[in-house]
Amino acid sequence: MRVVETKAALRDALAAPRREGLTIGLVPTMGFLHAGHVSLLESAHAECDVVVMSLFVNPAQFGPGEDLDRYPRDRERDERMAADAGVDLIYAPPTEEVYPEGFATAVEVSGLTEVLCGDPGARGPEHFRGVTTVVAKLFNTVGPDVAYFGQKDAQQAVVIRRMAADLDFPVRIEVRPTVREDDGLALSSRNAYLEPADRERAPALHAALGAAADAAEVGAATADAIAAARRVLAEAGVEPEYLEARDAERLEPIETFNGRPVLLAIAAQVGGARLIDNVIIEPNAPGRTRGA
Ligand code: PAF
Repeated sequence: MRVVETKAALRDALAAPRREGLTIGLVPTMGFLHAGHVSLLESAHAECDVVVMSLFVNPAQFGPGEDLDRYPRDRERDERMAADAGVDLIYAPPTEEVYPEGFATAVEVSGLTEVLCGDPGARGPEHFRGVTTVVAKLFNTVGPDVAYFGQKDAQQAVVIRRMAADLDFPVRIEVRPTVREDDGLALSSRNAYLEPADRERAPALHAALGAAADAAEVGAATADAIAAARRVLAEAGVEPEYLEARDAERLEPIETFNGRPVLLAIAAQVGGARLIDNVIIEPNAPGRTRGA
């Protein structure tokens, strides 16, 4: 496994595999790897000839009051885990390599980025502008055939799919299931912020989504499923930042389970960690879920 820090070195390292027609898989990360990242890396390793992992804590997707400075980092451990998972090349650029002096461009997907995590009362659309800008740059510099993302960040996956289609990036977007602790808590680098008492409350997000999925029936009001989820959260003392039912692709609000996949998405501050989770209620089979 090689580690490179510049675009020039990255392109240089990928020139021969590209000439030989090998397939390149990209797993974009902000490091502090966990089993969720590892499952993406292993998928890429199984399905592509060359696996590139980017490791970059992207300042553009953090708001002014957010956790950029304290975002957990452990480069040595990340490199060991990446090597074990079959990564061939790590691209770990310094900030000035990605955003050099004078950088003035942003990639913005409208319509999907102003809701849920993009609501101005949550992280705001600037968060997704930061994500799409850096991912577009990674697609341009790596030139992957396939790029892998986790279903835990459901909205991010929807937004990136839209961006890739709209901007004609010749890349296939693969979204893989959320990896969970035994008690249902979705793995996230930010779980490192949970104090023991908060860690005990944190699985309530997954339990709440399970209660909502159980309450879902064809033709039933999504408000009833959301009410079931709210009861579980209340018992655990968790106040959601949002808890919403939306069309799983268009992210429009959904009033009834209506034969299209419905995304039930939640965000909540639990102690020091802002956690997100989601479940997709499949059409005509409410209660059955994808990626959860
Ligand atoms: O999901 C993440 O870790 C980040 O949003 C990503 C896709 C690596 C972009 O910085």
